[in-house]
Formats: sequence, structure tokens, C-alpha cells
Amino acid sequence: MCGIIGVCSGPEKKFSTGEIVYKGLLRLEYRGYDSAGVASVEEGTLRVLKGKGKIAELEKKLGLSKVKGSVVIGHTRWATHGAPSDVNAHPHTDCTGRIAIVHNGIIENYRELKEELVRKGHVFKSETDTEVVAHLIEEFYRSGDKPYEAFKKAISMIKGSFAILAVFADAPSMIFFAKKDSPLVIGLGDGMNLVASDIPALLEYTRRVITLRDGWVGFITKDNVFIEELGKGPVNPADYVRVVEWSLESASKGGYQHFMLKEIHEQPRALLDTLYGLRSDPALKEAAEILAEARRIFITAAGTSYHAGLHFALTVARITGVLVTPFIASEYESYSRVVREGDVLIAVSQSGETMDTLKAARAFKERGARLIAVSNIIDSAIPRESDLPLYTRAGPEIGVAATKTFTTQTLLLSLLAVELAATRGDLLKSEYEEYVGELAKSSEYASKSLAWNEGVAKKVSEMLRLKHSIYYLSRGIGLPTAMEGALKIKEIAYLHAEAYPAGESKHGPIALVEEGFPVVFVVPRDQYYEKLILGNIQEMKARGAWVVGVAPEDTSLRDLFDVFIKVPASSWITTPITHTPPLQLLAYYTSTLKGYDPDKPRNLAKTVTVE
Ligand code: F6R
Repeated sequence: MCGIIGVCSGPEKKFSTGEIVYKGLLRLEYRGYDSAGVASVEEGTLRVLKGKGKIAELEKKLGLSKVKGSVVIGHTRWATHGAPSDVNAHPHTDCTGRIAIVHNGIIENYRELKEELVRKGHVFKSETDTEVVAHLIEEFYRSGDKPYEAFKKAISMIKGSFAILAVFADAPSMIFFAKKDSPLVIGLGDGMNLVASDIPALLEYTRRVITLRDGWVGFITKDNVFIEELGKGPVNPADYVRVVEWSLESASKGGYQHFMLKEIHEQPRALLDTLYGLRSDPALKEAAEILAEARRIFITAAGTSYHAGLHFALTVARITGVLVTPFIASEYESYSRVVREGDVLIAVSQSGETMDTLKAARAFKERGARLIAVSNIIDSAIPRESDLPLYTRAGPEIGVAATKTFTTQTLLLSLLAVELAATRGDLLKSEYEEYVGELAKSSEYASKSLAWNEGVAKKVSEMLRLKHSIYYLSRGIGLPTAMEGALKIKEIAYLHAEAYPAGESKHGPIALVEEGFPVVFVVPRDQYYEKLILGNIQEMKARGAWVVGVAPEDTSLRDLFDVFIKVPASSWITTPITHTPPLQLLAYYTSTLKGYDPDKPRNLAKTVTVE
């Protein structure tokens, strides 16, 4: 979803405010990239530059970074209301052109508000829901309120989700902010303060941040932060300052052509960091105890995180006697109905801000369930609302397609499953030690899997770039990985891809298979499943399929594959960690060979803060 940033700096400023906002927008571009713009207050006048297109193109055309002024705000858009266009790009202004706002989220009651404002004579320029906020502020300001009062009154009238920044030509040292259900973080700099949708936009200037909570409004100046909870009173900012560990380097490409490729190759490090983080955190054992006492366990998430959730459900089913119900977050209503006290929901979200997952979590909590969150972002919305947060330590993931966050999620969730089984007494000591030992080697396994397959992935991609459709088939514990492989290539290479349980393929999907049709088999290291998959491979080959096998180095099936993608012979429990990296590489190289930008796939945004 959209990215926003603002900076307040004094005349003695070290950095140019225009450049800070421009660079910040580039770092936030993963959140949306159909249009962008900036607004600055320069010598008592408001200047707005905006348009349709990518940020770097707009920089060439408009010179976004050249704006001066002690306050500058910026926005990069992922369209919801109104198509991507120059006029729908943010910032939006009021009728006088002296108030500008940027917004991430959705104003649900904008139609009613707009009708009323139009009746009062306001003239709207765009089709967005956002513009209504600029006119609302103007309405209060015109009737005599000071800028902050006018801003607050406008905020109290809007419904929906929002992270909003506003600037006034008449308040040239202040940026006003408000937050509900969309992320917003303040960065405390040296002689300046910043506010942005996400931490990577701030890292070049500070690591001291305040993650804003829902219902908070306030303003920043170059050396002051004022926060209050709407209708409740002031909040002491000092109580919420924390220092983030992420380095600037971790949020830049570091020599790779794309963030996605860098993040694929960061997996060994991310897995190690996650493992060490969990070892020193008692939360994993606490979570296992909560789960062991649960009446029923549900796990929910969206997209890639859902695949990690599915891996957890399958793992728990295999090593304990407990059934875990996985469900797609946006479908929560069908599941929350049956929830009662004693139930536990695990909500998995790398960003911690996905609206569908947040809504599912809230619905379960309202009905008395306990909530365990799994996220990569400390203090983000879902962990904050949970009874117990668990964190992966993958570092910032900027590529829109999830990569290292998936493998680290599956590591965390596998360890949780093993702890749960141990807490319940379902495992022998030797079994427990074997699983934990295998999971401890995750980094090494991912490292081998990447090193062995870069070249093969490039070769297979040469073929896949010419195809229109592809199947990913597997069984049992391999299925979430097959689903993840299909999602990845669909997202960034725009290749129609579907994942099926291999046994199901003969009940319909096989109808599409003809000479040269690509089928990727994800073969977990498990004799029972290998035997079943053997039959499925033969069915596909008999119809001319071109079979790519992602299988352990000691597989008995290698002679059947047209291409063998070899992965380490580890335990079944590490299947997502050994088998996913080559599938990510396949998607990456197919995308780049087709001339696409895998970091910014069309129609997608990294953190989906709308339902
Ligand atoms: C896939 C992808 C999305 C996300 C989904 C959930 O590559 O990036 O499918 O996995 O939007 O996001 P989080 O995990 O942030 O809740």
C-alpha cells in the first residue's frame, strides 16, 4: 500500500529536505509505485509536484528532490480509489492550495463527507477518497481553528484506515500526523525529525524511532514531537522511543541487481539470525505452552505467510495428535463464528500490518480466543494486539515478493511445532533432538540449495520464459512449498501457475497437459511420498509433460526428471527451507529474462493495508 514520508528540518540543516523525501520515497517504493509526489512549504507558499509514473522517472521530469523548505512531505501510491493519474497522485490540496496532505489507507465515509463539502462550495480535483481530508481541514481552518485544531477535528470525522500527514503554508515548521490501522513511524534525527510508513525510509538519518499506535495524532517540528491519543490526552513520546537494529546496508541492494535477488541470498544469514533470536527468547516455549493448553488451534495469514501457516498445520498434524485449522485471513468470518474461549489463533504476517490478517485476529480476540503473532516487524500492529508476539529476524524485506521472510517463518513455526509436541509429551527425547538438530542446520541447508542451483535455475528459466502455464505438484509436507513456488512465479514473471496436491492432478488439471507442458514436482525427503509421487510423474510424462524435479540429492526419482534440481538430503521438516530457494530463483530469473522488474511487480504492493 502507499508509502508516505515527511521531514522537518531547520535552516542549519545537514541534509536537503527535498533529497531526504525523494530518497525516502525510493526506499518506500515497494509499497506502491503507480504515481508519486511531494509538497513543500517554501517561504510561506505551498509547492506541490506530482504525477503518474515511477519515482525515478518523476524525478527526471519534475525534480522532486529539488524542493526546498523546512517541511516536506511525499507519497508513493498504490491506487485504490481513482486510477493512477497525475491528478489522482498525492499530495492533495484544499481549495486555497495552502494545505496539502498525503494518505495511506482508505477513507470509508468519503462519499458522505464529499457531498457535504461540495454543498458548502468546495471544488474537488481528483477521484480519490483522500482529497476529502484536505477540504475538511480547510473547512475547520476557515472557521477560525488553529492548524492543529483544524487537523484534529477533520481526523475525528473520518472513518476507515489511515496514516495521514498534513502541512500548512501558514504553519511552515510543522508536519501534522494521524494514524489508524496503517503504519506510521517517527524517526528522531539530529536537528530534524521525520515520519514515514516504514523504518527503511528513516535508517540513513536515525535508528531512534517511535512506532505510532492507532488513534494517535500529533505533530513534529525539527526538534519536538507532540503526540496525543485522540479524545484521551497527551502521550509521552519518550516512553515509546526504541532503537532499531537494522542497518542502512540491510535496506539497500548491496551490489545485487535487485532487492529480491539479494534477499534470496540473504536467507542463510536470516535463518541463522532467526534461530539465534529464538534461542535467547523464552517466548517460543511460552507459545508452546499456550498451544498445549488450547481447546483448538487455528492459524491464519495471507499469501506467502499462509503457506508458512499451512506448513505449521501439516507439521503439527504429523508430530502431535493435534489438528490445527489453517485458513486464509480474508475468509475469517467463516471461522471466527465457531470460536470460543480456550481457542488460540496464530496470526502470521511478515509486515504485521496486513489488514485481512489484522481483522481476522481482532475477530478471534473479540470472541475470547488468545492470539499468538508471528511477524518480522517488531511493534507492528498484529504483534502489538497479540497476547504473545514471536519474531523472525529476517531484516528488512524490500522486494515485493516475500522470500527470506517465508523461510524464516517456516523455521520459526517448525520449531514451535516441535516445542508443542515436546510440551505435550508426543516426542521421544531422541526424536525431539533430531528435529531441533535438523532445524538448527537450516542456514547450511539453504546455503547449499542456493549454491547448487543458481546455474540450473537460469537454464530452466530460459525454457519457462516461453511458456504460458505451469503446474507445481507435490504431496504432504511438500505442498506448501509447491504453492509458494507457484505464487512466486505468478507474481513476478506473470506466468499462469497453479499448485496442486499431485494426487489431485488427475481429477482435472491433467487435462491441460500436452507435449512440453512444464510441471515442477516438489519432492520432500520422505519414502512414503516419493513412492506416491513416482506414479504422478509417470502420469504427467505419459502425456508429454516437461518435468522439473526439486528433490533431495539421494532421491530415487532422479532418472525420471527432465531437469533435476538437487537439494540437500535433510529431514522432511525442513522441506520449505531446502526446496524453496531454487523455486525463488526460478521465478526471479524467469521474470528478469522476460524483462520485468521483480522488485516491483505490476498491481502488487508489499503491505496490503486494505481489506
Ligand atoms: C507474496 C507476498 C504476499 C504476502 C501477503 C501477506 O510474495 O508478498 O502474498 O505474503 O500479502 O503479507 P504479510 O506477510 O506482510 O502479512
